[in-house]
Amino acid sequence: MLTQTDLKRNVADAAVQFILPLLAPGVVLGVGTGSTVDLFIDALAPHKANFRGAASSSERSAARMREHGIEVFDLNEVGTMPVYVDGADEIDRSLNMIKGGGGALTREKIVASVAERFVCIVDESKVVDQLGGFPLPVEVIPMARTSVARRLAALGGQPVLRDGFITDNGCEILDVSGLAIPDPAALEASINNIPGVVCCGLFALAGADIALVSGQGGVAEMTGS
Ligand code: 5RP
Repeated sequence: MLTQTDLKRNVADAAVQFILPLLAPGVVLGVGTGSTVDLFIDALAPHKANFRGAASSSERSAARMREHGIEVFDLNEVGTMPVYVDGADEIDRSLNMIKGGGGALTREKIVASVAERFVCIVDESKVVDQLGGFPLPVEVIPMARTSVARRLAALGGQPVLRDGFITDNGCEILDVSGLAIPDPAALEASINNIPGVVCCGLFALAGADIALVSGQGGVAEMTGS
């Protein structure tokens, strides 16, 4: 029986094999954040001579890549990016995701928006029929924490401040449980419209293009229904 860490390592290795054909001397990759991505970075490092470097969605991933000798670029220096690789907290069969368990949701959405393709790497425990079991992270400007929380409660959620956590952008996170999410894109748009919201952890208006899903039987590709 493979452990969850084994499954994460397997999908990280599969992601490296998946992107190898895209590597070229001028290529800058987009790299996400989390324990699965940590393993992806480790598996990517032996190939560092075959691409230019990476744009990172967090200080955590940037530090890990620098330790491996992978050059990290400011996103403002990057014109095109063939692929962005990141994990998720939940993903449905249409490739909508909840992200932000690691608190990097805003930079993840920004870096992903520059890439031509989003490759999501997860173990099978993250695949769900409907999003919402995992509390939805919402990054907020600190002065708007309470007003945003009221609006999220009006949408049916129970927002809880992620205690003692400050994002790489100097903001706070409300983790919202209890939301029914039958239409992820509509909910993402409506949360984005609340004044004081920096970013919502729903990735549905622009979801993943493909998911690599690691299970006991191996890694399968999920292309969306
Ligand atoms: C970080 C994220 C991560 O992708 C998500 O939390 C999954 O993390 P892990 O690979 O550790 O399970 O969105 O903000």
